[in-house]
Amino acid sequence: MSMIVRRLARAATAGLVAAAALTAAAHSAEAADTLGSAAAGQGRYFGTAVAASHLGEADYTATLDREFSSVTPENEMKWDATEPGRGTFTFTSADRIVDHARSEGMDVRGHTLVWHSQLPSWVGSLGASDLRTAMNNHINGLMGHYKGEIHSWDVVNEAFQDGGSGARRSSPFQDKLGDGFIEEAFRTARAADPAAKLCYNDYNTDGVNAKSNAVYNMVKDFKSRGVPIDCVGFQSHFNGNSPVPSDYRQNLQRFADLGVDVQITELDIEGSGSAQAADYTKVVGACLAVSRCTGMTVWGVTDTYSWRSSGTPLLFDGNYNEKPAYDAVLAALGGAGGPGEPGDPGDGAVSCTATYTRTADWSSGYNGQVTITAGGEPISSWTATVTLPAQQTVSSLWNGTPTRSGDVMTVRPSWNGTLAAGASTSFGFTVAKNGSDAAPTVGACTAS
Ligand code: G3I
Repeated sequence: MSMIVRRLARAATAGLVAAAALTAAAHSAEAADTLGSAAAGQGRYFGTAVAASHLGEADYTATLDREFSSVTPENEMKWDATEPGRGTFTFTSADRIVDHARSEGMDVRGHTLVWHSQLPSWVGSLGASDLRTAMNNHINGLMGHYKGEIHSWDVVNEAFQDGGSGARRSSPFQDKLGDGFIEEAFRTARAADPAAKLCYNDYNTDGVNAKSNAVYNMVKDFKSRGVPIDCVGFQSHFNGNSPVPSDYRQNLQRFADLGVDVQITELDIEGSGSAQAADYTKVVGACLAVSRCTGMTVWGVTDTYSWRSSGTPLLFDGNYNEKPAYDAVLAALGGAGGPGEPGDPGDGAVSCTATYTRTADWSSGYNGQVTITAGGEPISSWTATVTLPAQQTVSSLWNGTPTRSGDVMTVRPSWNGTLAAGASTSFGFTVAKNGSDAAPTVGACTAS
């Protein structure tokens, strides 16, 4: 990836260069080999949360600058960091991130203006009238300071409760100003920086459920009444208790169909290896399948600094090595080493990824599973290769049709060739070790 193409990629996310020109430039130069450039080839940004305190670390900053086209300050734009005393604004840490991003040609997401958490105590002690004034003053203070510098603002964050009720969450804003505080925040934000996209951002709204239904109904109401809202952020913090929902893409699409952009704003997926990689592939495939999904942000550069560091949920390990999840994301974005040329969703360029997991193990054998995930287009068939260590033999295989040539087993679908964009299937097999416990190698997936 040449520096020129990387700069063009970043300029495109900032709206300075037409995406088509960028795509042509990227194709004529070389295949995209970073997350930001590959995403730009798909007309998207690929961002990360950043902490100002780590910007002095060479490996952190080198990885950030090389790979990402957008940054979100992880904590530095929150209310406690920017207005610790009423009317006293401090922008030192946030400015550090914005200045760094701008000097590297990266775009910036603003996070977040009105949130019940990381709120200084003085806000909670105000009466209703003062609180309304303080909320609007805070929005004007931040958006005024960064006017023209922020591509999207999380205007209101996490205003709905979890659980089945779809109710609003108790907060000083909700309790004292009522449901109307969200609408008022968006109206104030539009006037403060008319060029910024205004987002509502939340978690556990990634699939269709009571909470996402409540947000959906609010957005629908806003659109019908002309309340200024441009985008909905889906935080997408996933782990074993909260896996990537099977209706993730459909949920993104139903919001997009309301006439707003959708963005994946705080993506992280606990896990490791091929299972984690397959989950990342699903998320990227879902975004690429929804034309109004304008970009993705992972919630940190390295596992070490993640808010869920013990769950190793990010794309780079503690030594800034690219994890299998990184390779899967780059491939799903159509980047170098991926299954095909970058193509806009809808242009018919089909792709898939194959990831391997050992699902059972005993002294003389093991079960392997290969998960096939479609890229940004639906596919009607796929082919994957599995190369086995010489001693090993396959005694059975299910949900796939194998042909074997020497150590290489080529597997095609049995009943499961047709996959929607971002959807997955898997085949499994039982292996006799015959003295070798080594793992098989799974080659690139090809799709048609
Ligand atoms: O800066 C202080 C430091 O001075 C102090 O010594 C230290 C002691 O604990 O705390 C430091 O503050 C911490 C801050 O992160 C900065 O590192 C806070 O304790 C800690 O609670 C805070 O956590 C942040 C969390 O939001 C707070 O709600 C995480 O970094 C941040 O990743 C997380 O991000 C949120 C999004 O904003 C909204 N969606 C959920 C997401 C994950 O929780």
